[in-house]
Amino acid sequence: MRGLTTPEGLKEEQQRTIASPRRRYGLLARVLFGTLELLYGPRKTLSKFKVLEVIARVPYQAWEHVAYIAMTHTYKTPSFARRVFEFVKESRAQQDNEQWHLLILEELVQRKGIRENFFLCRILPQFMAFFYYHVSWLLYVMKPAWSYALNADFEDHAEHEYMAFVKENPAFETESFESEFKADYGSYENIADLFRRIGLDERLHKEESLARIAQARFS
Ligand SMILES: [Fe+2]
Ligand SMILES: [Fe+2]
Repeated sequence: MRGLTTPEGLKEEQQRTIASPRRRYGLLARVLFGTLELLYGPRKTLSKFKVLEVIARVPYQAWEHVAYIAMTHTYKTPSFARRVFEFVKESRAQQDNEQWHLLILEELVQRKGIRENFFLCRILPQFMAFFYYHVSWLLYVMKPAWSYALNADFEDHAEHEYMAFVKENPAFETESFESEFKADYGSYENIADLFRRIGLDERLHKEESLARIAQARFS
């Protein structure tokens, strides 16, 4: 993974995403993306990405919740419970990563003085996240691979949207990245590199979910 956060490395990763086809999204993912497009319009905007990030955290929270229940039921076999705990830590790291995305986007929206509709940008995303949490939770309880597949669709969509967002906005290349979260998330010369890095995070989240599906298949 070294070198990926250099400006050249990030540009290569952006090209790789743009050149690769999107996943064939499942029904639930298509309904979600369709709803987002209907409510927030087809244009890629910071406010719309914020909605994505509010939703993005919740599958990891749902999996963490189920994993804690599993640990309560299995701690008599500490080595097994420990493996579950390793999974919890991984989920938590991804959740934290999505949290930084959200805070950085919110900071950008405020800095640019973008006016947002309170209902569409504050209330509705919370309802959608609440619903999505329960869908992810239920799928996970029924068959973990279903929940991972939905998340892989979600992350794939986010990856492609961020990389395309940078391509559609050449002005980002010269817009400097100022943030109070640089120490937490990383320092990037401009907004274009910031979004390339976020897009790359989404790809890594997708790959982690796909790896989990493969593990489930062979275990
Ligand atoms: Fe994200
Ligand atoms: Fe993500």
